[in-house]
Amino acid sequence: MHPERLAYIETFGCQMNERDSEIMAQLLAQEAYARTTDLKQADVVVVNTCSIRDKAEQKVYSLMGRVRMLKEEKPALVVAITGCVAQQEGKKLIDRMPFVDLVVGPQHIYELPDLVVKAAAGQRVAVEQSNAFVIPPFLPAMESGSTYRRFVTIMQGCNNFCTYCVVPFTRGREVSRSLDDILAEVNHLAKNGIKEVTLIGQNVNSYGLDHDQATRKTFPELLRAVATIDGITRLRFTTSNPKDLSQELMDCFADLPKLCGHFHLPVQSGSNNILKRMNRKYTIETYLDKVDGLRKARPDIALTTDIIVGFPGESEEDFEATMDLVETVRYHAAFSFKYSDRPHTKSADFPDKVAEEVKKERLARLQKRLQEIFDERNREYEGQDLEVMVESTGRNKENQWTGRASANHVVNFTGEGTFVQGQLVKVHIDHACSHSLRGRLIGVT
Ligand code: SAH
Ligand code: SF4
Ligand code: F3S
Repeated sequence: MHPERLAYIETFGCQMNERDSEIMAQLLAQEAYARTTDLKQADVVVVNTCSIRDKAEQKVYSLMGRVRMLKEEKPALVVAITGCVAQQEGKKLIDRMPFVDLVVGPQHIYELPDLVVKAAAGQRVAVEQSNAFVIPPFLPAMESGSTYRRFVTIMQGCNNFCTYCVVPFTRGREVSRSLDDILAEVNHLAKNGIKEVTLIGQNVNSYGLDHDQATRKTFPELLRAVATIDGITRLRFTTSNPKDLSQELMDCFADLPKLCGHFHLPVQSGSNNILKRMNRKYTIETYLDKVDGLRKARPDIALTTDIIVGFPGESEEDFEATMDLVETVRYHAAFSFKYSDRPHTKSADFPDKVAEEVKKERLARLQKRLQEIFDERNREYEGQDLEVMVESTGRNKENQWTGRASANHVVNFTGEGTFVQGQLVKVHIDHACSHSLRGRLIGVT
């Protein structure tokens, strides 16, 4: 037996990275590394990085400053950089930070434990960033992670090459897992008490397109298959490009009660001119048609989005078109970002960059209006009865609970009884706050 060895894993970025961190934690556990949340205690530090925006990458370097100091105190510490910055920068990271032992791209996470063991034995410095990805049929161990909801990776990579986006360069081309592997994983989760599953990929609508045409299954077919698994009561997915949102997928919202009433449909801009320069391959008119189609299929569906302001060439008029769009769609929530240049991307070389002050001012204007719309949207739930999945007991008080509505809102509620995480209850909403809803229990479902 080894004395206890500890792994500290810090995760930046999207759900893909969150799931990859869980997988790495489980793989390291097989090498007798338990997970710690205390950086100072660690024998191995894994920094799972994101490169989507400049700010995300800078956060990584600031954490690495702390890791460098720790390594000076503890020379045996193994330091690994994984994720999208690892893939993007490769060996340059070791040139820049010589205290780093391992640089492992997202397509090589399954090799991490072996590399860590070798590095701990003195074989330092490895860089794994080739683009040869096979997703092993991986059945998760159940020791770590949530006891009632999980992410399941259904595909990796992206073929879309939106001109601003680094993902096709960091995650490579689309590779889908087989339907059987995914169903086996979800079945395993269901048998272990998991109630909610979120199917994840950078571009889930393209699921299966890389498989043999004769036998391949589409994303809507996959959703329907997962929805038949007993024990799973809620199903979510993310993310998808609106251009590939099919009628078959909209039909799933009408037909599958387990499929939650939430769709994250990133629009990026309200201007056709900018959408074209972004290579998004849809127009605002077709986007709005899809919004209508989704609302027809599921009238109470909550739509959320991502918006970039200050894309190169964005005029005041283009930006106003984005302001008009949010007025038309009235999103329930949205992430909005200032455009930043990313390595390898086409738009990094576009002329007519928008000045930083202009981006800042536009973002503030957009976020102010968005927040008002979210508040208006939240108030629409006052007086309604919602199905809520219990997440935890509320802080401080007895009979206070926290959960999540189908549309993904956090719901704080009062109610007498004993509930377990993952259980579905009915809550009457009395009051809308700006980031959550408040109500009282009216029954169990
Ligand atoms: N696959 C997802 C996108 C994931 S990236 C999709 O297609 O919707 C998450 C969000 O980051 C994007 O939707 C976009 O709004 C933002 N983003 C990506 N690249 C960016 C950049 N260079 N500058 C600013 N925001 C960016
Ligand atoms: Fe990036 Fe576009 Fe692919 Fe989304 S669809 S990951 S924004 S290239
Ligand atoms: Fe970031 Fe990579 Fe995800 S760049 S958003 S961690 S795919």
